[in-house]
Amino acid sequence: MKIFVETPYLFNTYRRQPVTFVKGKGACLWDDKGKKYLDFFSGLAVCGLGHSDPVVAQAVSSQVKQLAHTSNIYSTKPQQLLAKELIKKTFPGKVFFSNSGAEANECAIKLARRYGHTTPVQGKPRYEIITFKNSFHGRTLGTLSATGQEKFHQGFGPLPVGFPTAEIGDIPSVLKCLNNRTCAILLESIQGEGGINPVGIGFLKQIKKICQAHKLLLILDEIQTGVGRTGTLFSFQNSAVAPAGFAPDILTTAKGLGNGIPVAATIAKASVADLMQPGDHGSTFGGGPVACQAALAVLQALSSKKLARIRVLGKLFQKEIMSWQKEMPEIQCVRGQGLMIGIDLNKPGKEVVSACLKDGLLVNCTAETVVRLLPPYCLTDQQVKSGLKILKKNISSK
Ligand SMILES: Cc1ncc(COP(=O)(O)O)c(C=O)c1O
Repeated sequence: MKIFVETPYLFNTYRRQPVTFVKGKGACLWDDKGKKYLDFFSGLAVCGLGHSDPVVAQAVSSQVKQLAHTSNIYSTKPQQLLAKELIKKTFPGKVFFSNSGAEANECAIKLARRYGHTTPVQGKPRYEIITFKNSFHGRTLGTLSATGQEKFHQGFGPLPVGFPTAEIGDIPSVLKCLNNRTCAILLESIQGEGGINPVGIGFLKQIKKICQAHKLLLILDEIQTGVGRTGTLFSFQNSAVAPAGFAPDILTTAKGLGNGIPVAATIAKASVADLMQPGDHGSTFGGGPVACQAALAVLQALSSKKLARIRVLGKLFQKEIMSWQKEMPEIQCVRGQGLMIGIDLNKPGKEVVSACLKDGLLVNCTAETVVRLLPPYCLTDQQVKSGLKILKKNISSK
């Protein structure tokens, strides 16, 4: 079947690459002309297990045949099982399911405000959430306001108030934002859209201390870093990303959780989650049985062996790319963890993205100069080698 992209009928919201994909398998995609591509992007950190993963496909297809939707007025087994599994693999608490990263963060923001209303200071509810410059938390009005990048705000005001912005690595800037109205701090452990910026173990430690001292909730946005991306199930469990024993009060996850099937979760400590009562929040589709079966299959596939493989692949990427630095002045630095890697260039990254696409390799650019790699976890060593060869050739200005 030939698929046409009717661009005149779509909102012009994406700078789309000139390619139409029709098939995916493992780490590869095929376009409508039959050309094969190696994927170092995974649909923006979504298809971690690879395209058309057979186990996820089987889980989804058998569930859709049995029961596709009931609404959250009723219970389903897949939703109960997935919540239990997520709690088992993170920290004691409860889960709210939705369909996208922005929704998961929106729920976290509402929950933090509810917490602030139940713990007033001098009789006044707390509602401010400190966020950070270069962060990205989504496109709904609340998450947009929480996103510390002015360029995304332009022309959409007035935005919801109560999201003062501090600087990563700069504790005095956090303290400057702190006041009687503050109820939470929201951050990514590695800023993804902001340019693959790890915030650092020491910084996370200090943020946790501030939260404890001022009775603030710590919200960790793991929408890009989660579900194996950094080499542990969540990045807060990674000793290269967060301090030992570190755990947030609220964690949000989406992207890789369904390997392409939309599913998102907001996980909160039980005492915080219990602040939401019937009618306070909801979603028609969130936590539907099909999406939950996909996520259960993903979590089961992410065995400790698979996570170890992600760490090995991550080291392979970093070692190889860092070895180019001596001979390639175009590379300013390499950042990231596991299979979340940013190569900061001294030139626009979008030229590299286009050149790689022509050569059959999918990579991405963020923060203007950062070539971002978010490859699937199923890559073979040979695929790493052949993809990096194309990337090196196209980063080089020679
Ligand atoms: C860290 C982070 N938070 C939130 C989001 C928003 O997720 P979604 O596009 O699924 O709404 C993204 C998406 O890129 C993200 O990287």
